This record gives sequence, C-alpha cells and structure tokens, in this order.
Amino acid sequence: MNREILGTSQVIRDLREMILRIAPSKTNVLIIGESGTGKELIARMIHNSGPLKDEAFVPVNCGAIPENLIESEMFGHKRGSFTGAVGDKKGLFEAANGGTLFLDEVGELPVGMQVKLLRAIQEKAIRKVGGNETHKIDVRIIAATNRDLESGIAKGTFREDLYYRLNVIQLKAPPLRERRGDVRMLAESFLQRFSERQGKRLEGFDQLVLAVLEAYSWPGNVRELENVIERAVTLASDGVIGVSALPPGFMTVSMAGGVILEKNPADAKSPGAGVDAGGEIRLPAPDFSKGPIELETVLGEVERIYLGAALEYAGGVRKKAATLLGITFRSIRYRLKKLGVDEGGGE
Ligand SMILES: Nc1ncnc2c1ncn2[C@@H]1O[C@H](COP(=O)(O)OP(=O)(O)O)[C@@H](O)[C@H]1O
Ligand SMILES: [Mg+2]
Repeated sequence: MNREILGTSQVIRDLREMILRIAPSKTNVLIIGESGTGKELIARMIHNSGPLKDEAFVPVNCGAIPENLIESEMFGHKRGSFTGAVGDKKGLFEAANGGTLFLDEVGELPVGMQVKLLRAIQEKAIRKVGGNETHKIDVRIIAATNRDLESGIAKGTFREDLYYRLNVIQLKAPPLRERRGDVRMLAESFLQRFSERQGKRLEGFDQLVLAVLEAYSWPGNVRELENVIERAVTLASDGVIGVSALPPGFMTVSMAGGVILEKNPADAKSPGAGVDAGGEIRLPAPDFSKGPIELETVLGEVERIYLGAALEYAGGVRKKAATLLGITFRSIRYRLKKLGVDEGGGE
C-alpha cells in the first residue's frame, strides 16, 4: 500500500520537495518527529522515489525487540549459536540487502548494539551471531526517532559517532498542531478511505466538527486524527458527521485549546484554565505574586471550556447548548463566532 504524504502547508510542500531531491542518492537519512507525524511514510516515499524502489524496504522498530535478541534480529545467527537457535537465520540487514533498512525509534537501541550497527554501516559488512565469516551488505539506512538524540549524546545514551553516520541528511516531520491548515484535507481523505472500506455513504463533516478538529492540539498527530475519523465513520449513519461522532470529551478539550491539566497542578501544561484527565474543569488559584492576571483572559478560557462542554452535551445543537448555559441562541452564535467556531447556519 503506497500512501501519499498529504498536505498543502508550506512545511509539507518543502518536505516533499526535499524527499524528491534526496531520493536519487543512497545517502543515509535521519527523520526526527513526534509519534504519528508520518516518519515511516516519509521513509517509504524516499525509498519509492529513488533507484532502489524495486528492492526491499525493511522496517524495524528498534524499541520493540528484546535487548538479547537485537543482534541476531539485525545480523542473523548460525545454527546452535545460542539456545533456541535451531537453524541458520537471516537477519534484517540481509533481508534489506540492495534496498533500504528503516531503523525506526533508533534512539531506543542499547549502546552496545549502537557500536555494532556503526561497524556494519562503516564496513558495509555484517557478521552473524555465532559466525566467523563476514558478508558484504549494501543497504541505504533511513533512521527515525522521536527523541532528542543530541541530548542522548550528552547523557551518554547515544553514540555520537553513530549519530553523525545516520544524520547525513536530516528531515523534520512537523507536528500536526503546527500545520492546522492540513487537518481538513487529511480528515476528508481519511473519511473517504474509511467510508469506502465500511461501505458507507457519508457526505462530510458539519462545520462545527471541522472547527473542533482544527482547534484540537493533536498530541498523537496524524495517527490520532486517523483514529478519530475511523471511529467517527464507524459510528455515523449516512449523511453528515456531527459532533456526537467525536470521542467523549474531545470537543470540550478542543474548545479549551487542547489544554489538559495534569493531576498535579504544578505539572499543568498551561497556567490557565483547563480540563483535567478525568474530565474535570479546573481553574488555577490566583497568584498575584507572579504579576497581574488578566481577568478577561481567564474569563475567555472559561467561556471556551463551558461552550465546548455544552455543545458536546447537546450533540452540537447550538440552541440546546444555549439553553444549557442560560443564554440566548443569538448570544451563543455571537460567542462562537468570536472564537472562530461558528460559520453561521445550523441550529
Ligand atoms: N502527511 C500525511 N498524509 C497522509 N497520511 C499521513 C501523513 N502523515 C502520517 N500519516 C498517516 O498517519 C499514520 C502514522 O504515520 P507513521 O508514518 O506511522 O508515523 P510515525 O512513524 O511518525 O509514528 C499512518 O497511517 C500514516 O499513513
Ligand atoms: Mg513509526
């Protein structure tokens, strides 16, 4: 399945252009980005756009292999080299020979394995566990990480020499919240994919849902959006997808500016109002020793949270939400418009 990297934001356009520019070479690439930002998709596009496209693309999640098995997974082993090694086994390097080896979560590799990996890359050869001879291997390495490898180097958990080997070209996968303009087209493309798959005829999202999707902070990035849309398609009947197809609490959190407070107020991500992980709405205790507090700002945050919660409870019906808050329909329309959520129309 070859999916495209979707998006019309400048960062995504630049990224696609950079991919096409580096694909023809066999240079090693390091992709940095939060989970769900499309790092594997980027790696596949580099592979598929270059001269190795008809060769193997072998993805490895370095964080998912138990430490005592990594070497044999990567380089293979000879029969009898350890208990359980009942036959010769080919490693991932060999499987990727001539093509691309995608080392996902490379920051999770134990330091000992990092040394062996560096040697394999430098010498373009591997030695199987329990074997004596070396085998020539020619692979392009694309590595990815959601960790800050440079601070890993400072802490001694990541080898600097390996870092420089992998980081010949560096690509950044931008978080979705930094390119909110792409949310709508991504959501629509996922809607199409999942409704085809589920054999549903859905016309699209209502305006309020689109506004809420765009306002959300997407800590899980495109993967989270994909899941939210799959869920919505599953729950929706034919027609337009409304607020009630969003996950519980989603709307409230989104309208609160994505602010979820931690249980311990000291760890709160925002000094302002927010919704805690249990769905409770919280206000910080006023502390004027740190300077003045803008009452209008605090009230604005409270307004967003309560409007979001009321709309969520009312299934997106503005008239009902207004009643829940003891305000008029005109007033809720005005307030939502002020927040950029209401584009007019609808109840
Ligand atoms: N720009 C994008 N356009 C379309 N789909 C995307 C995009 N970025 C990510 N995805 C999808 O989101 C999911 C997570 O992407 P993935 O590459 O596995 O992220 P990561 O490896 O960074 O965690 C995949 O299903 C992928 O197809
Ligand atoms: Mg991944």
